[in-house]
Amino acid sequence: MKRILIVTSNANKVKEFREMLEPLGYEVVSLRDLHDDEDVPEYGTTFAENAVIKAEHGMKKYGVPAVADDSGLCIDAFDGGPGVQSARFLGHDTPYSYKNQVILERLKGETNRGAQFHCAIAFAVPGAQTKVFEGILRGKIADEAKGNGGFGYDPIFWYPQYGKTGGELVPSEKNAVSHRGKAVRRFLEYFTEYSKTEKE
Ligand code: IMP
Repeated sequence: MKRILIVTSNANKVKEFREMLEPLGYEVVSLRDLHDDEDVPEYGTTFAENAVIKAEHGMKKYGVPAVADDSGLCIDAFDGGPGVQSARFLGHDTPYSYKNQVILERLKGETNRGAQFHCAIAFAVPGAQTKVFEGILRGKIADEAKGNGGFGYDPIFWYPQYGKTGGELVPSEKNAVSHRGKAVRRFLEYFTEYSKTEKE
């Protein structure tokens, strides 16, 4: 069976990729399946760079096609921050309820509340040029945190398509418009064609 490596230790991301790629005839293997707890350093300055670093690291280490993603929240009034630092903003293990309150506090009185989520997916194949697929969702930072759905910064991110925060959306609503949904669909379109060319 053809194999693809998902370079992440995030169980939710592995599940999502498994559901997409197994129907295309792939055995989806994660770092956890390989008992690999190496923390791949994310030293890139863009989401695309970080996704490429992770995908190529996994591809070179195990010699199989590998996919990785990187995402985050960019706030206009913070000059695009926290950006690639989104997961580490105010500390990696700090609860998002606190991170979100700090963002709302810092934006008090700010008229420019524009923001966007960004997702980059990199697909690395031995001997080939690594491909990157990106998705952006523009919205704004809400006046207050709302809802318990989604994760991370969702309760303070206002989705203009629904007039609700991400915390108030169900997964299917969010995926239909989200940065990750867009990047995933672009990747899948490419991968579906690629998978037909790869031998068992
Ligand atoms: P990573 O891609 O797993 O490194 O996550 C990057 C950071 O961006 C994390 O802090 C997430 O909380 C945040 N983030 C990425 N996508 C979303 C989203 O769809 N909703 C809320 N937060 C997100």
